[in-house]
Amino acid sequence: MQRSSVLNGGDFHRLVVDNITELVALVDHQGNVLYASAAHEQKLGYTPEELIGGALASLIHPDDLDQVGDAFAQCATDGRAALAEFRIRHRDGHWLVLDGGLTAIDDGETRLLLVTASDVTERARRERAEREFVANAAHELLTPLAAMNAAIDVLQCGAKEIPAERDAFLDDLEREVDRLGRLSHALLVLARVQATAEPLRLQPVELCPLLHEVAASLRAGTEVAVEVVCDESVAVLGERDVLERALTNVAENAAAHTARGRILLAARRTGKGRVAIEVRDTGSGMPPDERERAFERFYRVGARGGEGFGLGLAIVREAVRVLNGTVEIDSEPGLGTSVRLALPEAVV
Ligand SMILES: Nc1ncnc2c1ncn2[C@@H]1O[C@H](COP(=O)(O)OP(=O)(O)O)[C@@H](O)[C@H]1O
Ligand SMILES: [Mg+2]
Repeated sequence: MQRSSVLNGGDFHRLVVDNITELVALVDHQGNVLYASAAHEQKLGYTPEELIGGALASLIHPDDLDQVGDAFAQCATDGRAALAEFRIRHRDGHWLVLDGGLTAIDDGETRLLLVTASDVTERARRERAEREFVANAAHELLTPLAAMNAAIDVLQCGAKEIPAERDAFLDDLEREVDRLGRLSHALLVLARVQATAEPLRLQPVELCPLLHEVAASLRAGTEVAVEVVCDESVAVLGERDVLERALTNVAENAAAHTARGRILLAARRTGKGRVAIEVRDTGSGMPPDERERAFERFYRVGARGGEGFGLGLAIVREAVRVLNGTVEIDSEPGLGTSVRLALPEAVV
């Protein structure tokens, strides 16, 4: 076998270090940077030249300094150490989560430390979101259970003998059971769409009948006109149940937040193999920060214990993903909201 000349000498190692996306740095025992690989520029916004001579600690999150310091101390004695996840500041100020390791390199009398680290920001974000989701779900399940327990206690302590009180507490119980049922159902729907890699039965779904059905099922206020505007026989390639769920969730939000004016459900061909579906209302609207978070699971405005759970738009986002589409929200406080879906057109 022919040996490539690239493998000769140190050139190959340099080539590797310059081209991997992991960060590789060499620091002295005080944490001053002696070498930083090219990837630092892309990841942290600093060129290696800007980093060399500086202190690594100046970029590390103050809350993580102790833990990184301990790893340095351990490496100085043992020769190796894990650098558990720690945060480091990008030039533009945002924090990245890195995960890496330290290896001691003896350079004559002095001990240098080789730092290798990879960017796990996205994974850390996902893990945090999962933890929050489970905590939120548990909280949402426990709240009605606590209310039910309280109602049963009061009934057993004598309220069951007084017809008016008994009926009132039975009504409470019924409401809480209903809430638990709706929450369980929403969680199951979310789990189902999240687990779907692709729509199971991709088939043409005609939009005009669907939009009329969704509009007819809406419980909108008496001062709200619900209108449907739809290109003739426009259809998307999708799964009817999933699409209906998504449109119902969006339309129910419009109905819930619109006291007067109108709710428009519209579908039209864009001419680019896509169909644009819009649900527009003249309701309360959302400020930008709310609009940005609206798709998060369990995110909702208003008191817990209200009608919704904050899962409606999370389900919409997942549904649109499995339908190979996109969704976006435009909203103006006081003027109203427009939710737009773009989905692949089916030619029927
Ligand atoms: N059409 C709308 N107008 C005003 N606010 C809306 C609208 N749609 C959604 N929102 C806001 O986004 C939040 C999240 O919506 P959603 O996920 O459907 O949860 P839920 O309806 O259970 O509160 C709502 O609590 C509400 O504050
Ligand atoms: Mg909702």
